[in-house]
Amino acid sequence: MLHFMNFTLFTNFIGLLLALFSVTVNALPIGELHMRDVFVPPVTSPTADAVWAVGSVQTVTWNTTDAPEQITNPIGRIMLRKGGLTTNNTLADGFDILLGTINVTVPDVEPGDDYEIVLFGDSGNFSPVFEIVAADNGY
Ligand SMILES: *[C@@H]1O[C@H](CO)[C@@H](O)[C@H](O)[C@H]1NC(C)=O
Ligand SMILES: *[C@@H]1O[C@H](CO)[C@@H](O)[C@H](O)[C@H]1NC(C)=O
Ligand SMILES: *[C@@H]1O[C@H](CO)[C@@H](O)[C@H](O)[C@H]1NC(C)=O
Repeated sequence: MLHFMNFTLFTNFIGLLLALFSVTVNALPIGELHMRDVFVPPVTSPTADAVWAVGSVQTVTWNTTDAPEQITNPIGRIMLRKGGLTTNNTLADGFDILLGTINVTVPDVEPGDDYEIVLFGDSGNFSPVFEIVAADNGY
C-alpha cells in the first residue's frame, strides 16, 4: 500500500513537471513574438559629426536589418529634437518604416549644436546629437 501511494505521488510529480514544462515551452514563442513585433530601428544617419544647413536636403537613414515580419506600426515619422526635447517640427511623416532612408528638408530653426532627430515607428529612437547651422554657411 505504501509502495502504491509513493508511486502515485511520483506519477503526480512527473505529471506536474510535464505540465510546467509544456506551459514554459508554449509561453516562449509568444514572448519572443511580442518582442520581435516592436521594431525600434537604430538611426544610422545623421551621425554625431553631421552639420545640417537650414533649408538643405538631408538624408536620414536607419537600420532595418532586424525588422520582424510583422510590425505593429509600419508607418514612420521623424521629428526634430533640441536640447533633449522633442520639438513640434515634423521632418517627415507617413512613410514606410522599412524604407531605411528618407530625405528631409532642414526646417528654418535657430542654429545650434544640440539637435537630434527621433524616428518613430512602434517606438522612438534617437539619433546622436548633431549640429544645425544657418542657411548660407557654406555647407
Ligand atoms: C544593421 O544591423 C545589423 C544587425 O544588427 C548589423 O549587422 C549591421 O552591421 C547594421 N548595419 C549598419 C549599416 O549599421
Ligand atoms: C511650433 O511651436 C512654435 C512655438 O511654440 C510655433 O511658433 C510654431 O509655429 C510651431 N510650429 C509648427 C510646425 O507647428
Ligand atoms: C536624397 O538626397 C540625396 C542627396 O541629396 C540624393 O542623392 C538622393 O537621390 C535623394 N533621394 C531621394 C529618394 O530623393
